[in-house]
Amino acid sequence: MPLVGFGLWKVTKDQCADTVYNAIKAGYRLLDGAGDYGNEKEAGAGVRRALEEGIVKREELFITSKLWNTFHAHDHAKVAAKLQLSLWGLDYFDLFLIHFPISLQYVDPSHRYPPEWFDDNGKVQLQNTPYHETWKALEELVDEGLAKNIGMSNAAGALILDVLRYARIEPAVLQIELHPYLTQEPILKLAKLLGIAVTGYSSFGPQGYYELGSHKGSSSLFERDSVIQISKTHNKSPAQVLLRWATQRGIAVVPKSNTHARLVENLDSGSFNLSQEEIDKISALNVNLRLNDPADIDPRLAIFA
Ligand SMILES: NC(=O)c1ccc[n+]([C@@H]2O[C@H](COP(=O)([O-])OP(=O)(O)OC[C@H]3O[C@@H](n4cnc5c(N)ncnc54)[C@H](OP(=O)(O)O)[C@@H]3O)[C@@H](O)[C@H]2O)c1
Repeated sequence: MPLVGFGLWKVTKDQCADTVYNAIKAGYRLLDGAGDYGNEKEAGAGVRRALEEGIVKREELFITSKLWNTFHAHDHAKVAAKLQLSLWGLDYFDLFLIHFPISLQYVDPSHRYPPEWFDDNGKVQLQNTPYHETWKALEELVDEGLAKNIGMSNAAGALILDVLRYARIEPAVLQIELHPYLTQEPILKLAKLLGIAVTGYSSFGPQGYYELGSHKGSSSLFERDSVIQISKTHNKSPAQVLLRWATQRGIAVVPKSNTHARLVENLDSGSFNLSQEEIDKISALNVNLRLNDPADIDPRLAIFA
């Protein structure tokens, strides 16, 4: 899995095909999608254009998607994965993740897709599907050649350890929120010990949450003195410093940008090294600020409590 990928959350439908095509043309090989992002068909169109023009071969791409909460029941998980593959126009995903360890009431895709968090009455409806049932469905996707790897997202240590008690196919990747305001050392250490690769999402902390109004009052990481100072030392942008802070420790990142120049800048973030002292200085910004916490939607979804 490449260390720098392109994240597809909030890439608008009308821009998505062109953005994906241009991202691949610029050199991105990892695309991080999800059923919930509502742009899989458009992302697939961008991929197809790049493949047709011979810019890249399918086997050179690493395409990730995620299973949404309403499809955790065994049969629903498999049908959803197949639907998602058909939207992308792909034969297989390189990585298929369980988006959240949260099971919500099934919504038929013909009724609403993506189903999102709430039912028709604006309520969160839980469903009693245990994680092991969903994991078994994902293992079968691997058996059928529909997913090369499977993994977990937004999972805490206890759940990872439990999956390892029964998994026939172990999680290859853990995708978690990770930025200098939420440095997550214990789970990084656990994943390393267990041999599970980590992808950090929301590398720019609150940046992607300003437009949603859910930044929880946090100030921009791009404006923090230590980040600015380090970026000046290396003649790099603050964004590149934040990405390198993760990738230098072997953590993959999937920054998203709707701006082509930024997309290029983000990919070009591996050409310098931070000193240990600089990494520590950035990590010292940690305040355990979790921006993507389903408990903010409904207290019954407190998966990180
Ligand atoms: N597993 C999960 O539950 C989960 C949750 C959240 C995110 N993710 C994944 O992680 C990806 C990234 O996370 P994210 O969307 O929260 O945000 P992010 O990549 O941390 O930040 C995106 C924000 O930063 C801006 N930006 C991007 N590059 C920049 C640069 N070089 N300089 C200045 N500003 C820059 C973007 O603006 P412009 O677009 O205007 O450039 C956007 O506002 C998602 O797309 C998704 O694939 C996964």
